[in-house]
Amino acid sequence: MNIPKHFLSLLFFISSFSHITESSEVRCVKAACATHEPNIRFPFRIKNLQTESCGYPGFDLSCDKAGQTLLKLPNSEELFTVQGIDYGTQDIWINDPNNCLPNRIIHSLNFTDSPFYSAYSEDFTFFNCSLDYLRYGLNPIACLSGPTYTVFATASSKAIELLSTTTCRSIGTFQVPIEWPFYEQVWSSDLSDHLRLTWDIPTCGRCESRGGRCGFKANSSREIVCSDIPDRGIPRSARYAVSVGVGIPAILCIVGILCFICGRVKAITRRSGSIPEFNSTVAPQPTIIMGLDGPTLESYPKIVLGESRRLPKPNDNTCPICLSEYRPKETLKTIPECLHCFHSDCIDEWLRLNASCPICRKSPHRT
Ligand SMILES: *[C@@H]1O[C@H](CO)[C@@H](O)[C@H](O)[C@H]1NC(C)=O
Ligand SMILES: *[C@@H]1O[C@H](CO)[C@@H](O)[C@H](O)[C@H]1NC(C)=O
Repeated sequence: MNIPKHFLSLLFFISSFSHITESSEVRCVKAACATHEPNIRFPFRIKNLQTESCGYPGFDLSCDKAGQTLLKLPNSEELFTVQGIDYGTQDIWINDPNNCLPNRIIHSLNFTDSPFYSAYSEDFTFFNCSLDYLRYGLNPIACLSGPTYTVFATASSKAIELLSTTTCRSIGTFQVPIEWPFYEQVWSSDLSDHLRLTWDIPTCGRCESRGGRCGFKANSSREIVCSDIPDRGIPRSARYAVSVGVGIPAILCIVGILCFICGRVKAITRRSGSIPEFNSTVAPQPTIIMGLDGPTLESYPKIVLGESRRLPKPNDNTCPICLSEYRPKETLKTIPECLHCFHSDCIDEWLRLNASCPICRKSPHRT
Protein backbone atom coordinates (compact mmCIF):
# COMPACT_ATOMS: atom_id res chain seq x y z
CA MET A 1 0.00 0.00 0.00
CA ASN A 2 2.86 2.31 0.71
CA ILE A 3 4.48 2.15 -2.67
CA PRO A 4 1.66 3.52 -4.84
CA LYS A 5 1.17 6.35 -2.40
CA HIS A 6 4.80 7.27 -2.59
CA PHE A 7 4.77 6.92 -6.30
CA LEU A 8 1.89 9.38 -6.52
CA SER A 9 3.76 11.73 -4.26
CA LEU A 10 6.72 11.42 -6.54
CA LEU A 11 4.66 12.23 -9.61
CA PHE A 12 3.19 15.15 -7.82
CA PHE A 13 6.61 16.26 -6.79
CA ILE A 14 8.03 16.09 -10.29
CA SER A 15 5.09 17.91 -11.77
CA SER A 16 5.42 20.64 -9.20
CA PHE A 17 9.09 20.84 -10.00
CA SER A 18 8.50 21.25 -13.74
CA HIS A 19 6.04 23.96 -12.84
CA ILE A 20 8.78 25.89 -11.08
CA THR A 21 11.21 25.76 -13.96
CA GLU A 22 8.70 26.69 -16.64
CA SER A 23 6.56 29.21 -14.89
CA SER A 24 9.17 31.70 -13.73
CA GLU A 25 7.53 35.08 -14.10
CA VAL A 26 8.70 38.04 -16.08
CA ARG A 27 11.25 39.86 -13.90
CA CYS A 28 10.47 43.53 -13.58
CA VAL A 29 12.28 46.45 -12.04
CA LYS A 30 10.54 48.25 -9.20
CA ALA A 31 9.53 51.78 -10.01
CA ALA A 32 7.97 54.93 -8.57
CA CYS A 33 7.62 58.41 -10.04
CA ALA A 34 9.23 59.96 -6.95
CA THR A 35 10.25 58.83 -3.48
CA HIS A 36 6.95 59.83 -1.81
CA GLU A 37 4.81 58.46 -4.66
CA PRO A 38 3.16 55.00 -4.71
CA ASN A 39 5.33 52.00 -5.56
CA ILE A 40 4.38 50.71 -8.95
CA ARG A 41 4.36 47.02 -9.70
CA PHE A 42 2.17 44.51 -11.50
CA PRO A 43 -0.63 44.93 -12.62
CA PHE A 44 0.44 48.57 -12.95
CA ARG A 45 3.48 49.72 -14.81
CA ILE A 46 5.05 53.07 -15.59
CA LYS A 47 5.42 53.49 -19.32
CA ASN A 48 9.05 54.19 -20.31
CA LEU A 49 10.34 52.78 -17.02
CA GLN A 50 8.95 49.25 -17.03
CA THR A 51 8.55 46.99 -20.04
CA GLU A 52 5.14 46.21 -21.43
CA SER A 53 5.03 42.69 -20.01
CA CYS A 54 5.43 44.17 -16.50
CA GLY A 55 1.90 45.55 -16.54
CA TYR A 56 -1.58 44.37 -17.37
CA PRO A 57 -3.41 46.08 -20.27
CA GLY A 58 -5.32 49.13 -19.02
CA PHE A 59 -3.01 49.67 -16.04
CA ASP A 60 -0.42 51.93 -17.69
CA LEU A 61 0.73 54.92 -15.67
CA SER A 62 3.06 57.78 -16.42
CA CYS A 63 4.97 60.42 -14.46
CA ASP A 64 4.73 64.16 -14.91
CA LYS A 65 7.57 66.63 -14.50
CA ALA A 66 6.69 67.24 -10.85
CA GLY A 67 7.01 63.51 -10.12
CA GLN A 68 3.28 62.87 -9.81
CA THR A 69 1.92 59.48 -10.85
CA LEU A 70 -0.70 59.84 -13.57
CA LEU A 71 -3.44 57.55 -14.83
CA LYS A 72 -5.22 57.90 -18.16
CA LEU A 73 -8.68 56.41 -18.47
CA PRO A 74 -9.78 55.40 -21.98
CA ASN A 75 -12.80 57.73 -22.10
CA SER A 76 -11.48 60.69 -20.14
CA GLU A 77 -9.40 63.21 -22.03
CA GLU A 78 -7.67 64.50 -18.94
CA LEU A 79 -5.41 62.51 -16.65
CA PHE A 80 -5.87 61.68 -12.99
CA THR A 81 -3.21 61.70 -10.29
CA VAL A 82 -2.74 58.45 -8.42
CA GLN A 83 -2.76 59.05 -4.66
CA GLY A 84 -2.39 55.50 -3.47
CA ILE A 85 -2.69 51.87 -4.49
CA ASP A 86 -3.65 49.01 -2.21
CA TYR A 87 -2.45 45.94 -4.09
CA GLY A 88 -3.94 43.57 -1.51
CA THR A 89 -7.51 44.89 -1.60
CA GLN A 90 -7.16 45.96 -5.27
CA ASP A 91 -8.07 49.59 -4.64
CA ILE A 92 -6.70 52.72 -6.24
CA TRP A 93 -7.21 56.29 -5.00
CA ILE A 94 -7.20 58.94 -7.71
CA ASN A 95 -7.68 62.68 -7.81
CA ASP A 96 -7.82 65.53 -10.26
CA PRO A 97 -4.36 67.05 -10.90
CA ASN A 98 -5.88 70.51 -10.26
CA ASN A 99 -7.47 69.28 -7.02
CA CYS A 100 -10.95 69.98 -8.29
CA LEU A 101 -12.60 66.60 -8.51
CA PRO A 102 -16.13 68.10 -8.68
CA ASN A 103 -15.13 69.77 -11.92
CA ARG A 104 -14.19 66.38 -13.35
CA ILE A 105 -17.43 64.90 -12.07
CA ILE A 106 -19.58 67.38 -13.97
CA HIS A 107 -17.43 67.33 -17.11
CA SER A 108 -15.49 64.19 -17.74
CA LEU A 109 -15.90 61.23 -15.43
CA ASN A 110 -16.23 58.09 -17.48
CA PHE A 111 -14.84 54.71 -16.43
CA THR A 112 -16.20 52.85 -19.46
CA ASP A 113 -13.60 50.54 -21.02
CA SER A 114 -11.27 50.91 -18.03
CA PRO A 115 -10.62 48.09 -15.55
CA PHE A 116 -11.69 50.36 -12.68
CA TYR A 117 -15.06 50.84 -11.09
CA SER A 118 -16.57 51.99 -7.85
CA ALA A 119 -18.37 49.62 -5.52
CA TYR A 120 -20.79 52.36 -4.45
CA SER A 121 -22.12 55.41 -6.17
CA GLU A 122 -24.64 58.11 -5.40
CA ASP A 123 -26.44 60.66 -7.54
CA PHE A 124 -25.40 64.17 -6.64
CA THR A 125 -27.25 67.21 -7.93
CA PHE A 126 -25.13 70.31 -8.43
CA PHE A 127 -26.55 73.80 -7.94
CA ASN A 128 -25.18 77.20 -8.87
CA CYS A 129 -26.50 79.76 -6.41
CA SER A 130 -25.97 83.36 -5.45
CA LEU A 131 -24.06 83.90 -2.23
CA ASP A 132 -27.21 84.22 -0.06
CA TYR A 133 -27.70 80.51 -0.13
CA LEU A 134 -24.78 79.86 2.15
CA ARG A 135 -27.32 79.95 4.97
CA TYR A 136 -28.82 76.64 3.90
CA GLY A 137 -25.99 74.93 5.66
CA LEU A 138 -24.54 73.25 2.63
CA ASN A 139 -20.80 73.24 2.17
CA PRO A 140 -19.90 75.14 -0.96
CA ILE A 141 -17.48 73.61 -3.44
CA ALA A 142 -14.67 76.15 -3.28
CA CYS A 143 -12.94 75.26 -6.53
CA LEU A 144 -16.14 75.70 -8.54
CA SER A 145 -17.41 78.83 -6.78
CA GLY A 146 -16.60 82.42 -7.67
CA PRO A 147 -16.79 85.76 -5.91
CA THR A 148 -20.47 86.23 -6.85
CA TYR A 149 -21.79 82.69 -6.95
CA THR A 150 -21.53 79.46 -4.99
CA VAL A 151 -21.74 75.92 -6.23
CA PHE A 152 -23.19 73.15 -4.05
CA ALA A 153 -23.65 69.46 -4.51
CA THR A 154 -26.06 67.36 -2.54
CA ALA A 155 -27.49 63.87 -2.60
CA SER A 156 -30.23 64.70 -0.12
CA SER A 157 -33.66 64.74 -1.73
CA LYS A 158 -34.87 67.28 0.87
CA ALA A 159 -32.03 69.66 0.02
CA ILE A 160 -32.65 69.20 -3.70
CA GLU A 161 -36.34 69.93 -3.22
CA LEU A 162 -35.59 73.05 -1.25
CA LEU A 163 -32.95 74.38 -3.64
CA SER A 164 -35.23 73.75 -6.63
CA THR A 165 -37.70 76.28 -5.27
CA THR A 166 -35.01 78.98 -5.11
CA THR A 167 -33.23 80.95 -7.81
CA CYS A 168 -30.35 78.48 -7.68
CA ARG A 169 -29.76 76.99 -11.09
CA SER A 170 -29.40 73.24 -11.30
CA ILE A 171 -26.22 72.28 -13.15
CA GLY A 172 -27.28 68.66 -13.42
CA THR A 173 -27.30 65.33 -11.64
CA PHE A 174 -24.21 63.17 -11.86
CA GLN A 175 -23.39 59.72 -10.64
CA VAL A 176 -20.48 60.04 -8.23
CA PRO A 177 -18.41 57.12 -6.97
CA ILE A 178 -18.40 57.14 -3.17
CA GLU A 179 -16.37 55.25 -0.62
CA TRP A 180 -19.08 54.72 1.95
CA PRO A 181 -22.61 53.73 1.26
CA PHE A 182 -24.88 56.40 2.75
CA TYR A 183 -26.73 54.80 5.62
CA GLU A 184 -29.02 57.74 6.03
CA GLN A 185 -29.87 60.80 4.02
CA VAL A 186 -27.57 63.47 5.31
CA TRP A 187 -28.29 67.09 4.62
CA SER A 188 -24.94 68.16 3.30
CA SER A 189 -23.46 65.19 1.53
CA ASP A 190 -19.96 66.40 0.99
CA LEU A 191 -18.09 65.13 -1.97
CA SER A 192 -14.93 63.28 -1.18
CA ASP A 193 -11.74 64.93 -2.39
CA HIS A 194 -10.49 61.79 -4.09
CA LEU A 195 -12.04 58.76 -5.72
CA ARG A 196 -11.51 55.21 -4.61
CA LEU A 197 -11.86 52.75 -7.42
CA THR A 198 -11.36 49.05 -7.46
CA TRP A 199 -10.51 46.43 -10.06
CA ASP A 200 -11.37 42.73 -10.38
CA ILE A 201 -8.98 41.48 -13.05
CA PRO A 202 -6.19 40.55 -12.71
CA THR A 203 -6.80 39.03 -9.30
CA CYS A 204 -3.48 39.46 -7.58
CA GLY A 205 -4.89 40.52 -4.20
CA ARG A 206 -4.53 37.13 -2.56
CA CYS A 207 -0.98 36.72 -3.81
CA GLU A 208 -0.11 40.24 -2.62
CA SER A 209 -1.69 39.71 0.81
CA ARG A 210 0.54 36.70 1.31
CA GLY A 211 3.60 38.76 0.44
CA GLY A 212 3.99 37.19 -2.98
CA ARG A 213 4.67 38.78 -6.30
CA CYS A 214 2.21 38.62 -9.14
CA GLY A 215 3.15 38.85 -12.79
CA PHE A 216 2.89 37.43 -16.24
CA LYS A 217 4.41 34.04 -16.73
CA ALA A 218 7.54 34.26 -18.87
CA ASN A 219 7.06 33.31 -22.54
CA SER A 220 3.29 33.29 -22.20
CA SER A 221 0.91 35.95 -23.31
CA ARG A 222 -1.75 36.07 -20.61
CA GLU A 223 -1.11 33.58 -17.83
CA ILE A 224 -0.49 35.10 -14.43
CA VAL A 225 1.62 33.49 -11.74
CA CYS A 226 2.24 34.24 -8.10
CA SER A 227 5.80 33.79 -6.90
CA ASP A 228 8.21 34.66 -4.12
CA ILE A 229 5.86 34.01 -1.25
CA PRO A 230 8.20 34.51 1.70
CA ASP A 231 9.46 31.57 3.79
CA ARG A 232 7.21 29.05 2.19
CA GLY A 233 9.10 28.11 -0.97
CA ILE A 234 10.96 24.85 -1.54
CA PRO A 235 14.45 25.07 -0.03
CA ARG A 236 17.14 25.76 -2.57
CA SER A 237 19.02 22.55 -1.65
CA ALA A 238 15.94 20.47 -2.42
CA ARG A 239 15.41 22.27 -5.72
CA TYR A 240 18.99 21.59 -6.61
CA ALA A 241 18.83 17.93 -5.68
CA VAL A 242 15.71 17.46 -7.77
CA SER A 243 16.93 19.45 -10.72
CA VAL A 244 19.95 17.13 -10.91
CA GLY A 245 17.66 14.12 -10.61
CA VAL A 246 15.11 15.14 -13.20
CA GLY A 247 17.79 16.38 -15.54
CA ILE A 248 18.72 12.76 -16.25
CA PRO A 249 15.78 11.28 -18.11
CA ALA A 250 16.04 7.72 -16.87
CA ILE A 251 13.77 5.70 -14.70
CA LEU A 252 16.89 4.45 -12.96
CA CYS A 253 17.54 7.89 -11.70
CA ILE A 254 14.00 8.21 -10.39
CA VAL A 255 14.51 4.99 -8.47
CA GLY A 256 17.81 6.36 -7.25
CA ILE A 257 16.37 9.47 -5.75
CA LEU A 258 13.22 7.71 -4.57
CA CYS A 259 14.55 7.22 -1.07
CA PHE A 260 15.63 10.81 -0.80
CA ILE A 261 12.26 12.01 -1.98
CA CYS A 262 10.20 9.58 0.04
CA GLY A 263 11.75 10.90 3.17
CA ARG A 264 11.27 14.54 2.31
CA VAL A 265 8.24 14.74 0.12
CA LYS A 266 5.86 15.33 3.00
CA ALA A 267 7.82 18.22 4.37
CA ILE A 268 8.22 19.69 0.93
CA THR A 269 4.61 19.41 -0.18
CA ARG A 270 3.68 21.14 3.00
CA ARG A 271 5.94 24.03 2.09
CA SER A 272 5.24 24.31 -1.61
CA GLY A 273 3.52 27.65 -1.20
CA SER A 274 5.17 29.21 -4.22
CA ILE A 275 2.99 27.12 -6.48
CA PRO A 276 -0.55 28.44 -6.23
CA GLU A 277 -2.20 25.59 -8.11
CA PHE A 278 -1.08 23.08 -5.55
CA ASN A 279 -2.19 24.90 -2.46
CA SER A 280 -5.39 22.91 -2.33
CA THR A 281 -3.34 19.80 -1.59
CA VAL A 282 -1.69 21.45 1.39
CA ALA A 283 -3.13 20.44 4.71
CA PRO A 284 -5.56 23.12 5.90
CA GLN A 285 -4.02 25.31 8.54
CA PRO A 286 -5.72 25.19 11.88
CA THR A 287 -7.40 28.48 12.64
CA ILE A 288 -8.62 29.63 15.99
CA ILE A 289 -11.05 32.47 15.40
CA MET A 290 -11.85 34.79 18.26
CA GLY A 291 -12.02 37.99 16.27
CA LEU A 292 -12.97 38.66 12.69
CA ASP A 293 -11.32 37.09 9.70
CA GLY A 294 -9.40 38.86 6.95
CA PRO A 295 -12.16 38.94 4.30
CA THR A 296 -14.62 40.45 6.79
CA LEU A 297 -12.09 43.07 7.82
CA GLU A 298 -11.37 43.88 4.21
CA SER A 299 -15.05 44.29 3.43
CA TYR A 300 -15.29 47.23 5.83
CA PRO A 301 -15.37 50.65 4.21
CA LYS A 302 -12.03 52.41 4.11
CA ILE A 303 -11.19 55.99 3.39
CA VAL A 304 -7.93 57.77 2.74
CA LEU A 305 -8.09 61.15 4.39
CA GLY A 306 -7.80 64.11 2.08
CA GLU A 307 -6.24 67.41 3.02
CA SER A 308 -9.50 68.59 4.57
CA ARG A 309 -9.66 65.48 6.80
CA ARG A 310 -13.42 65.16 6.47
CA LEU A 311 -14.77 62.21 8.38
CA PRO A 312 -18.13 60.48 8.21
CA LYS A 313 -18.72 61.61 11.80
CA PRO A 314 -17.11 65.03 11.75
CA ASN A 315 -16.36 65.32 15.44
CA ASP A 316 -14.06 62.34 15.81
CA ASN A 317 -10.66 63.54 14.82
CA THR A 318 -8.64 61.25 17.06
CA CYS A 319 -8.27 57.53 16.70
CA PRO A 320 -9.76 56.05 19.92
CA ILE A 321 -7.32 53.15 19.82
CA CYS A 322 -3.91 54.78 19.43
CA LEU A 323 -5.14 58.21 20.58
CA SER A 324 -3.27 60.05 17.84
CA GLU A 325 -4.97 62.61 15.68
CA TYR A 326 -5.81 61.67 12.11
CA ARG A 327 -3.49 63.19 9.57
CA PRO A 328 -4.03 63.71 5.83
CA LYS A 329 -3.38 60.64 3.66
CA GLU A 330 -3.94 58.21 6.53
CA THR A 331 -6.26 55.29 5.90
CA LEU A 332 -9.27 55.03 8.19
CA LYS A 333 -11.80 52.29 8.52
CA THR A 334 -15.31 52.35 9.86
CA ILE A 335 -17.41 49.62 11.45
CA PRO A 336 -20.59 49.55 9.35
CA GLU A 337 -22.83 48.55 12.28
CA CYS A 338 -22.08 51.65 14.36
CA LEU A 339 -20.08 53.93 12.05
CA HIS A 340 -17.28 54.41 14.56
CA CYS A 341 -14.08 55.31 12.85
CA PHE A 342 -10.45 54.28 13.49
CA HIS A 343 -7.08 54.03 11.85
CA SER A 344 -7.38 51.07 9.52
CA ASP A 345 -4.34 49.32 11.01
CA CYS A 346 -5.48 49.91 14.60
CA ILE A 347 -8.98 48.55 14.14
CA ASP A 348 -7.82 45.58 12.07
CA GLU A 349 -5.53 44.53 14.87
CA TRP A 350 -8.28 45.00 17.45
CA LEU A 351 -11.01 43.19 15.51
CA ARG A 352 -8.75 40.24 14.84
CA LEU A 353 -8.71 39.70 18.60
CA ASN A 354 -12.13 40.97 19.67
CA ALA A 355 -15.17 40.93 17.44
CA SER A 356 -16.70 44.07 18.94
CA CYS A 357 -16.40 47.81 18.47
CA PRO A 358 -13.94 49.18 21.07
CA ILE A 359 -16.20 52.18 21.68
CA CYS A 360 -19.77 50.91 21.81
CA ARG A 361 -19.10 47.15 22.09
CA LYS A 362 -21.51 46.44 19.26
CA SER A 363 -20.62 43.19 17.64
CA PRO A 364 -20.24 43.36 13.90
CA HIS A 365 -22.09 40.37 12.49
CA ARG A 366 -19.82 37.92 10.81
CA THR A 367 -20.22 37.13 7.16
C1 LIG B 1 -18.52 57.11 -21.62
O1 LIG B 1 -17.83 56.78 -22.81
C2 LIG B 1 -18.51 55.84 -23.63
C3 LIG B 1 -17.60 55.52 -24.82
O2 LIG B 1 -17.10 56.68 -25.41
C4 LIG B 1 -19.85 56.40 -24.06
O3 LIG B 1 -20.53 55.47 -24.86
C5 LIG B 1 -20.67 56.73 -22.84
O4 LIG B 1 -21.89 57.33 -23.19
C6 LIG B 1 -19.90 57.67 -21.91
N1 LIG B 1 -20.64 57.83 -20.67
C7 LIG B 1 -20.84 59.02 -20.12
C8 LIG B 1 -21.61 59.02 -18.84
O5 LIG B 1 -20.44 60.04 -20.63
C1 LIG C 1 -22.34 79.60 -12.01
O1 LIG C 1 -22.96 80.78 -12.47
C2 LIG C 1 -22.06 81.82 -12.82
C3 LIG C 1 -22.89 83.03 -13.23
O2 LIG C 1 -23.96 83.23 -12.38
C4 LIG C 1 -21.17 81.36 -13.96
O3 LIG C 1 -20.24 82.39 -14.27
C5 LIG C 1 -20.44 80.13 -13.54
O4 LIG C 1 -19.65 79.63 -14.61
C6 LIG C 1 -21.42 79.07 -13.11
N1 LIG C 1 -20.66 77.94 -12.61
C7 LIG C 1 -20.91 76.69 -12.98
C8 LIG C 1 -20.00 75.62 -12.44
O5 LIG C 1 -21.83 76.39 -13.70
